[in-house]
Amino acid sequence: MPVLPVKIYGDPCLKAKSTSVETITPEILTLLRDMGETLYERHGIGLAASQVGVNLRIFVMDTDWTDRDEGDETGPRNLRFFINPEITWESEEDGPYSEGCLSVPGIEADVYRPLSVRLRWMDEKGKMREEQLEELDARCAQHEFDHLNGILFVDRLPFAKRTLLAGKLRKLKGLA
Ligand code: NI
Repeated sequence: MPVLPVKIYGDPCLKAKSTSVETITPEILTLLRDMGETLYERHGIGLAASQVGVNLRIFVMDTDWTDRDEGDETGPRNLRFFINPEITWESEEDGPYSEGCLSVPGIEADVYRPLSVRLRWMDEKGKMREEQLEELDARCAQHEFDHLNGILFVDRLPFAKRTLLAGKLRKLKGLA
């Protein structure tokens, strides 16, 4: 199964607003599977289709398998597919968490987001689901949902922080 190349900061795919999936075709199922492979290969916990150059409203997530801080990748694999996701509720309480992104390598920064959200989506079998997500699930789902609207975590940083990162970001843009 192919591991897909991940688009880097500066690639126009990452800034585009993605469109909804109409039907789950064999091509979509292949894309989901390849995105999963790519996620594990690149040691990520979430990956949006725009990051592999496909501007469809899809992301995959597995927050269980790896401990980013410990570098421990022995957790159970629990890959989940999110098609046409919508955030239907978010908590008033928000908080910071140090985020990174496979498309913005070498940069991590605290991003403030609601601590829990309610998400509605279609799974890979075409079934509608709705669930309240907490902690890392809520965090990751919001980060991936942003990708579908062409928003990167660095876009959510305060101006002063972004200014500090401007040089690094310019370098990444040169690589895209
Ligand atoms: Ni990302």
